[in-house]
Amino acid sequence: MIDLAAARVKLGRDPIVLPDPVPAHPLLDGKPEIGRGEYSIVIDKGDGERVYKLVSSPADYFLHTAPDRPQGTHFPVVYADHGIIGRARSGYPFHLLEMERLYPLEDKSPTADLAMRLIDFYWSACEQWSRLGMDMGRIALYHLTTTPLDISDSVQEALRALSDFVEEYHVLPDILNANNLMMRKDGTLVFSDPVFIA
Ligand SMILES: Nc1ncnc2c1ncn2[C@@H]1O[C@H](COP(=O)(O)OP(=O)(O)O)[C@@H](O)[C@H]1O
Ligand SMILES: [Mg+2]
Repeated sequence: MIDLAAARVKLGRDPIVLPDPVPAHPLLDGKPEIGRGEYSIVIDKGDGERVYKLVSSPADYFLHTAPDRPQGTHFPVVYADHGIIGRARSGYPFHLLEMERLYPLEDKSPTADLAMRLIDFYWSACEQWSRLGMDMGRIALYHLTTTPLDISDSVQEALRALSDFVEEYHVLPDILNANNLMMRKDGTLVFSDPVFIA
């Protein structure tokens, strides 16, 4: 089994959490925060179906709003872009998006198993291409799209869409972290946060 914490250190990605307070906004006031990462804050809308996601990383903003973003079974549905509602300490604007609510991978479920296999495939490819430095993740992901893997066609298709997006938008893949892979209530694997900007 791979050591994810060690992997992130190796890749220069510390498990930092965004320090910013949630900006005051009529859609958010009084609603509970249910998730936070290095660049985003997730707030429950309260209807059981949707969340508000405050994204500060341009990579995430492109991923969720670009007309040619990856879409389909394994990517989150974005319902609305409510615009810029403040600025993060990093200097990037906070964009407020409304998207489908997703769930953490359920321990020992087939979806968690699939996610771990993908992370393993990706990790092996990264090891193989580690001498490329900054280009490693990008090339490793491309490599996965050209290698027959024991995964469904729809997941293989999602990897291709993600690789195309990474190439087009000059962002880097971030799928070595199980927090960035989530599931729907029906168990579908969703790439919830698969890219970052170096
Ligand atoms: N659509 C969602 N529904 C529910 N929780 C989510 C959703 N997207 C992300 N989260 C939660 O919020 C955390 C941070 O989100 P993430 O997209 O990983 O942001 P970051 O870009 O900061 O890493 C995730 O680890 C997850 O627990
Ligand atoms: Mg994340």
